[in-house]
Order: sequence, then structure tokens, then C-alpha cells
Amino acid sequence: MDLCRIYSEICRTALAAGEIISQTEAASVAVTQKSGTANYVTECDIKVQAFIFERLSAFAPEIGFFGEEDAAEKSHSRYTFIVDPIDGTSNYMFGLKLSTVSIALCDLAENQTLAGAIYCPYTGDLFSAIKGGGAFLNGDPMQVSDNGLEHSLAAFGSTPYNRANAKMHMNILADVFAASADVRNLGSAALHLAYLAAGKFAGFYETTLSPWDYAAGALLITEAGGKISNFDGDPPSLDRPDSIVAGNAAAYPRMLEIIRRHM
Ligand code: IPD
Ligand code: CA
Repeated sequence: MDLCRIYSEICRTALAAGEIISQTEAASVAVTQKSGTANYVTECDIKVQAFIFERLSAFAPEIGFFGEEDAAEKSHSRYTFIVDPIDGTSNYMFGLKLSTVSIALCDLAENQTLAGAIYCPYTGDLFSAIKGGGAFLNGDPMQVSDNGLEHSLAAFGSTPYNRANAKMHMNILADVFAASADVRNLGSAALHLAYLAAGKFAGFYETTLSPWDYAAGALLITEAGGKISNFDGDPPSLDRPDSIVAGNAAAYPRMLEIIRRHM
């Protein structure tokens, strides 16, 4: 497999998909509800996923494809593209310009991401990484920060579609807030992970996410010198939903210690 060639195509596809999102007015697209609480999908999510599927499956037909939106294109093989066409769908629906495209090439047999890109079309920021080759923001190398949690921002996601663990989640949040300079929820898990890899956040956690939310971001973080795991400290699963905690070298153990107090 020519990983560099696939990595370039992942980056180009993320850029092109992002332009579809930024040029499609949310007010003009139909919205339907998926399972869970306030879990929406817009026509734009489906259109962008179909675009990515057509482009990547023409480029590398031997590689499987697994996207967030239910569609006939789902297929798994050892090497599979894991795709979130719009991460931050509620932001998109409500006109908050904070949504991303996330594309990863994963080796499911080894539970690892080989290449990934996260693109925010509203800022023009393309975050990308290739295994063993580093992480980049718009082509320049990026690194996690080396500030401790107490002097940094920490990001969190609220797991909005499944509120069964909301109490535990809010208890963790109170302690992360107390231990950090401040907390943020930007409404896109992929953006949180990309910003952590770029040194803007020192830590991040969310009680449940799906592989398409973190498949690309996990590689960005490790290639940028950070750490990411589930709440048990194991590598996040690429074939089922998982908890996620991430951070720079100083913040990751602190975040995990806070989380464990509440488990
Ligand atoms: C959601 C966003 C949100 C996170 C949710 C995700 P979606 O993804 O990443 O920040 O809190 O858990 O499901 O539905 O907008 O693609
Ligand atoms: Ca998502």
C-alpha cells in the first residue's frame, strides 16, 4: 500500500468535502432525527458522505469504507476509511461555524490509524498526520503544548445523544474545571482533538464517542507528541464506541486521575 499517496488523497478529499459544507446553507437542507436524544442528520451530512465515498472508493477500491451516516456504502476490510462527513452537525444546523470533516485510514486488525485529516472549512485549517511521519497544521509541523493543565484550557464533550452517564460526566467536568485555567465545549469532538494536537488545549475527555469522531484525531495527537486512550487507559477501539481521554504529557495523567475518581 502506498501510504503517502493515500494520505495526500485523504487531505485533498477533506478539503473538497469541507467546501461542500461551507457552501451549503444549513437553512436550505432537510433535517431528520436519528436514535438517541437530539441526534440529527441533515441532507448535507448525507451528501458529503456520498461525495467522500465516491471519491475514495474510486481512488482505492480495495479499501473498506465506514461512515457515520447509515448508507449502502458501509464495508469493512482490514484497511478501512473511517469517516465523519460533518462532525458538529448541531453546530452546522444552528449556524455556528464550528464543524469539521474527519477522514482516517485505519488498520482494523491492528486497531490503529495510519493516516488522517480533520478539516474546518470555516477557518481553513487542515490538520493531518501520517503514522511515523508527524502531524501538521496547514502543512507545518504541529506539536501538543507542554503546559500543565492548571495553566491551560481543557475541552470536553457532553455525549449529548446518550445521557445515561450525564451525572458522572458533569462531576468529572467540575473537577477538570477546578484543575484547569478554563473548560470549553466547541461541539465537535474531532475539532477538540485537532486543537489539542495543535497545542491549543492541554486535555480533552468525553464519556462516549464513536470511531468516526476520533479515528483521525487519535493519530493527530500521538504524532504531535500527546497521549490518547479510553477511560481504562487502553487504546480507543476503532470498531465500537468508546470513552476518550487525551492530553499532552503533563495533562493526560492528570485527566485520567480525575476521571478515575468518578468511575
Ligand atoms: C458529535 C460531536 C459532539 C460530541 C458528540 C458527537 P456529530 O458528533 O462531535 O461534539 O459531543 O458526542 O457525537 O453528531 O456532530 O457528528
Ligand atoms: Ca461526529
